[in-house]
Amino acid sequence: MHTLTIDGKEMRVERGTTILEAAKKIGIEIPHYCYHPGLSIAGNCRMCLVEIEGVPKLQISCYTLVSDGIKVHTRSERVIKARQAILEFLLINHPLDCPVCDQAGECYLQIYYMRHGLYNSTFLEDKVKKRKAVVIGPTVILDSERCVLCGRCVRFCDEVSKSSELGIFNRGDHSEISTFPKKELNNKYSGNVVDICPVGALTDRDFRFKCRVWYLKEKPSICPGCSNGCNVWIHYNVDRTCKAEGKRVMRIKPRFNEEVNKWWICDEGRYGYKFVDDNRIEKPYIRQQGKLIPVSWDMAIERIAGLLKKYPPESIGIVPSPQCTNEDNFVLKKLFSEHLGIKNIDYRVPSQLNVYSDDFLIREDKNPNSRGCEELGLFPKDKGLELKDMLREAENKEIKILYLMNHDLVKKMGREEVALALSSVDSLIFQGTNFNETVEFADFLLPSSTFAEKDGTFINQSGRVQKINKALEPLGDSLSEWKIFVKIARELGIPVEYGGPEEIFFDITKEISSFVGLSYSLIGDEGINLY
Ligand code: SF4
Ligand code: SF4
Ligand code: FES
Repeated sequence: MHTLTIDGKEMRVERGTTILEAAKKIGIEIPHYCYHPGLSIAGNCRMCLVEIEGVPKLQISCYTLVSDGIKVHTRSERVIKARQAILEFLLINHPLDCPVCDQAGECYLQIYYMRHGLYNSTFLEDKVKKRKAVVIGPTVILDSERCVLCGRCVRFCDEVSKSSELGIFNRGDHSEISTFPKKELNNKYSGNVVDICPVGALTDRDFRFKCRVWYLKEKPSICPGCSNGCNVWIHYNVDRTCKAEGKRVMRIKPRFNEEVNKWWICDEGRYGYKFVDDNRIEKPYIRQQGKLIPVSWDMAIERIAGLLKKYPPESIGIVPSPQCTNEDNFVLKKLFSEHLGIKNIDYRVPSQLNVYSDDFLIREDKNPNSRGCEELGLFPKDKGLELKDMLREAENKEIKILYLMNHDLVKKMGREEVALALSSVDSLIFQGTNFNETVEFADFLLPSSTFAEKDGTFINQSGRVQKINKALEPLGDSLSEWKIFVKIARELGIPVEYGGPEEIFFDITKEISSFVGLSYSLIGDEGINLY
């Protein structure tokens, strides 16, 4: 350990800590551009200069390690003058773009100028013009004039995505970021360069001009795109949907979690949020004379409860969803397995062929909660049927009711594989968030809410229990799955009553051994490992 003082505050930190990181630990912000905790140190922007007593020149704090007894000043007159000079230098050729720049509000040229700059400009010459709004890949647009050449994006592509599409070309004030010849920025993690670009040089093609950042609200959540369970922020706006074609979710951003995804998410997770506002099932429907007719919840629940009473449990198949929360699936299990005695329960729908996975974040299992379904035991036991056997028995007219939770069986298993089974059952009940090809076969549609519209927990592939939080009200008449099951239970006179997800989770911890001792407050925003 080393003892040092920063701005008069004494502290002890481990050997090998940089001055910038040590200062951060005691709440002192040293401005920086090229430093990023997830990348190697470049030391090229000089924005992080500090004064160390006894050392004649100012030192860059992102690279200089602490040593015993040093006295560091981050706000001395010399440091402030140097910072202003660096900012003035960086802004020499910067365009006066802020009013039309999509980064405004989260740009570190703006932020640092207001906090550390505020100098009177002495620059009178013409600015060097560079390329503007250049599409450099499917997700990102480059505005070279705004770039401060910190090199973060280049290091990300070299060190994290390991795809090396970007480089710094030319010399002096003509230097600029670009893709290598015949390459485009097109890796599975490309959107991260927008997050780490400290200025408006790299902007997101999906988010550009959709919403000013000061109108955004945020909620911590978990990406539902695969079983890695990356931690994310949902950025949304419900007050200005008229400006966004009715859309509420504006973008998904990574949320740091050292154990799960660090600072990063993949593009599929980042841009996979559109289903929250598009193509949603917003009302219950019943098929009448071949057409799906919207009906009230009361009518749909009454009819479905009637079917569940009429048919024996052996002729009913339930396919729970690993897209649903543990809370949803626990209430499903209580109703269908414990009270109605249905044994044909299987959540394991095969994944589509040729799904991408890698040894970084992206997993082959495209569900956020398969592990939760395993822990809750949502697979056949005591001679219950597996999904493929349920489908076969549906073709044989032995399975009369198939209750599908949000699975697009047609897309996942192929139309030829499932069409006969789905059209042979007396009633296909589809409970889910969005219209899809499987819905064409459904006799009942029950609208459920998406991950952004409810509270609950998922368990990722490594056994980490993580919490999702409700950012938005459920769209239309959609409801959380557990609420739909409680409605059915009430109609059947079955005592399955819950007031909310936390109450359900409390029961899970009493009944499922691997959850014992857990609570929402223990899970917190970072999650907790099951074992
Ligand atoms: S584009 Fe952004 S991240 Fe890349 S070097 Fe320029 S300022 Fe840095
Ligand atoms: S790796 Fe998986 S969980 Fe992470 S962002 Fe991508 S899809 Fe989402
Ligand atoms: S942050 Fe230290 S030199 Fe750039």
